[in-house]
Amino acid sequence: MGINVEPLSPVIGAQISGANLSQLGEADFAAIEQALVDHQVIFFRDQPELAPETQIAFAERFGPLHTHPAAPHLEDHPAVFVIHAHKDSKVANGNGWHTDVSCDEEPPLGTLLQLHTLPGSGGDTLFASMFAAFETLSPKLQEFLATLTATHESEHVYRGRYADRGVDDNDKVYPSAVHPVVRTHPRSSRQALYVNPGFTTRINELSHDESRALLDFLFRHQQRNEFQVRFRWSSNAIALWDNRCTQHFALWDYWPEERKGHRVTIKGERPGYDPTARPSAKSSTCENLHLSRQL
Ligand code: SIN
Repeated sequence: MGINVEPLSPVIGAQISGANLSQLGEADFAAIEQALVDHQVIFFRDQPELAPETQIAFAERFGPLHTHPAAPHLEDHPAVFVIHAHKDSKVANGNGWHTDVSCDEEPPLGTLLQLHTLPGSGGDTLFASMFAAFETLSPKLQEFLATLTATHESEHVYRGRYADRGVDDNDKVYPSAVHPVVRTHPRSSRQALYVNPGFTTRINELSHDESRALLDFLFRHQQRNEFQVRFRWSSNAIALWDNRCTQHFALWDYWPEERKGHRVTIKGERPGYDPTARPSAKSSTCENLHLSRQL
């Protein structure tokens, strides 16, 4: 039969059906990999709860796994980060726009999250396309941004964050990295805006005030509704997102209820900008978004 890929918007997101993730043949896996390139985030429903070994084995088909620099993990599986918020939580993961661990020199390529426990309502995750964010800027600004680098830091994000889950990070040094502001996707050759409010603290080639003003503008621009898809979780649903070209925001609107699942991240490469990259014609879905800013 093969899998079915149903786009959720012309810009970002697709739902995949007909996939048995624990026994995927080569052709189905290739179709899933291509769907991730085409849609940036893909969703699977009607899945059984995956054993950690099964989730890890599926993620490893995309590449070796990444270990989170701060978060608590399953005792027997350091690559499995437990996402958990409940009535006593002081923070909930991902409750703000960010790209996963962009503070790493080699940030994760992708993230695979399955949620097992859901609140009665709420707890949706929003995803935004950083291709759309870049492609809807004027050519002059695109050109300028492509000459810049930004610093991504994590001390302010991670220090003490998981203390209530038993993580003692007194002696820990948290990563920071410098990345290009525009990043070329190695598979599609599309250019993505690669700054995010979670980790990006400064544009290096500008003065402090210029950097703040430009980042504030870019952070606002990135959050336009037209660049987004919003996923309403169902039990054991799975999201797989490409961190090279997306940001996400996990809404914590369900306190004091509980939301829990397992997240595995796939190792990525050092972000690069290739000025000669020419995206395929298929990537021009954002052209019409230029028109919609007249309100
Ligand atoms: C995250 O990985 O940022 C959390 C995503 C989510 O819980 O939906």
